[in-house]
Amino acid sequence: MTFTELKHSFQRRLSDLYPLEEINTFYYWILEDVLELKRIDIKINPDQQIDEMKLETIQSCLNRLEQEEPIQHILGYTEFHGLKFSVNKNVLIPRPETEELVEWIISDLKEESPKHILDIGTGSGCIPVALKKHMDQHRVSALEVSKKALDLARHNAKTNNTNVRYIEQNILETDELPQDIDVIVSNPPYVKLAEKEQIHKNVLDYEPHLALFVDDDNPFLFYQKIIELAKKRGRSTTIYFEISQYLREDFENLMQYLDIKSVEIRKDFKGNDRMAKLLVNPD
Ligand SMILES: C[S@@+](CC[C@H](N)C(=O)[O-])C[C@H]1O[C@@H](n2cnc3c(N)ncnc32)[C@H](O)[C@@H]1O
Repeated sequence: MTFTELKHSFQRRLSDLYPLEEINTFYYWILEDVLELKRIDIKINPDQQIDEMKLETIQSCLNRLEQEEPIQHILGYTEFHGLKFSVNKNVLIPRPETEELVEWIISDLKEESPKHILDIGTGSGCIPVALKKHMDQHRVSALEVSKKALDLARHNAKTNNTNVRYIEQNILETDELPQDIDVIVSNPPYVKLAEKEQIHKNVLDYEPHLALFVDDDNPFLFYQKIIELAKKRGRSTTIYFEISQYLREDFENLMQYLDIKSVEIRKDFKGNDRMAKLLVNPD
């Protein structure tokens, strides 16, 4: 089979599941990985025959894509902020929106004197590793309730040569945060269980529900707890949150209720309200 024939086979078999652009991305990503080729080499040799054994591996990836398994699970890794992260069923696959949150923090803190940053609900560890990689002057810690997620986060810190301190802890059962934290970042679970039916199979069947869902009656459980913990310390703390695009108004109401006066909400690259920065106990 040639590259062109294989590409058509991808497009034919996945067309009911994904837009064409995404199918082409899958095709190149898998070929680059399995054949260890650059995209340009695949593009300029459309009639090249593919080695039979490699083709078998590619076909098995295609079968898994047809089952709507995420490509990141098939390959075992993803890219986040230019870095490579292993992923598996125990962690949320890092999203591009979260890269933008990281970008915001880096632009605020890149030139700052050393601070202690805490990431709450770290999953794959993508946030603390990317922050530490770009701003080595800061101390970075990360908290997570899932031991299996933490194992992977530790692995990701190591493969990216970064020094992050990991803490196995349930934030909802935490009474106090370390006194020396200056900055908190969190992309906590925020999808209401009622929204479950609208979630695509490749997320619902393959990503951990612990990372995604909260009870319908209190979607802000994690935000409220984190803010209250920060407030309790009586010390000025900047918090960066990823938020649900559907809950901006409710989020602003929560800020009023918690008497948080300094709040900035930003849109992501799709124009959705997706991240917030707030100041707790301003000096
Ligand atoms: C939306 S995911 C975010 C993962 C990662 N920070 C990212 O942005 O890709 C939320 C994370 O919070 C963790 N989590 C859920 N409940 C928690 C709790 N009670 N205490 C600490 N972490 C929790 C989940 O295991 C998951 O890794």
